[in-house]
Amino acid sequence: MTRAAITGTGFWVPERVVTNDDLAAIIDTSDEWITERSGIRERRWLERDADGRTLISGAEMGARAAREAIAAAGIDKDTIDQVIYATLNPDVFFPGNGVFIEHLLELNTAGAMDIRNQCTGFVYGLAAADGFIQSGLARTVLVIGGEIQSTALDLTDRGRDMAVLFADGAGAAILQATDEDRGILASVLHSQGRYARDLFAEAPVATVTGRMNAAMIEEGRHYPRMNGKMVFQHATRRFGEAIDEVLKKGGVTIDDVALLIPHQANQRITDAVTARLGLPVERVFSNIARYGNTTAASIPIALAEAVRAGRVQRGDLIVTVAFGSGFTWGANLIKW
Ligand code: COA
Repeated sequence: MTRAAITGTGFWVPERVVTNDDLAAIIDTSDEWITERSGIRERRWLERDADGRTLISGAEMGARAAREAIAAAGIDKDTIDQVIYATLNPDVFFPGNGVFIEHLLELNTAGAMDIRNQCTGFVYGLAAADGFIQSGLARTVLVIGGEIQSTALDLTDRGRDMAVLFADGAGAAILQATDEDRGILASVLHSQGRYARDLFAEAPVATVTGRMNAAMIEEGRHYPRMNGKMVFQHATRRFGEAIDEVLKKGGVTIDDVALLIPHQANQRITDAVTARLGLPVERVFSNIARYGNTTAASIPIALAEAVRAGRVQRGDLIVTVAFGSGFTWGANLIKW
């Protein structure tokens, strides 16, 4: 049976470190509040020029992560026949970032698509890559999760609940067709659109002439908004459900799992899920203290760091799980 094996991972984060104290200097917050509520101590934000423009694009961040993944997989980039780019903040309204990767990496017209599933984007991306490979549509797929969040946050007291959580970065994985007993064993994907407006950015929109008007900017409707408590409650429940479901689908139990790589939304969510599953903390990956919530990039960054740290070994079972805006949620069971 053909499976989709992850053969290389990579990540890239900006060099600029923004600490909680740095944020407390511009908005009404504190290191204590942020650390206690989220576990975040610092995050990476892209450098900007005097006009507020980032020095590199989101696609360039993705390309840097991808180059590392390609090198780790030891493949010729020209064998990539499909790019899947997960992001909620593409560099332009359209097209998506996938095509910019095709250009930046000179991929010779490989297929390219974007996934707009926010924090769950990379989990959906792995599932899609698995489907492409199993169906024979592709043999080598580059999946990237990348976000620029720092330019899209309301850095006034009005936006402080969101501004302290989110950050920039990109991670990537190469998936290749294999007949070996490894790769993605199972995935589960869910959504519940009735809650779309509990975590969303309203603008720019296609339903308003000019996509945006002055009143919308004045009211800050182009900034992300979140019903934080509700997101927290749903996330905690759905993380657990998705893990149970993907383990059942793969015919294994939580005791078989070497490492759980949850979306880095909030350390308190990770802790609640860890306690519910009865997992020892060393079998749950966490880097949110250093990077904050990088939405679609958080799982591939964590995966690449886990591989780099030797926490994932050939034959290990790992689970990735995410919840995010949409609401969307899902999980992948992967044999390394
Ligand atoms: N600094 C200081 N105070 C802040 C603040 C900040 N950055 N953001 C909000 N507050 C204030 C609120 O205004 C509120 O004040 P009030 O009681 O005077 O009204 C108070 O802190 C408590 O806010 P509350 O919303 O009850 O806090 P919370 O315990 O629910 O934590 C979150 C807030 C955002 C950290 C939490 O709801 C959360 O993590 N939600 C999920 C977020 C998430 O993971 N989103 C992405 C999903 S992928």
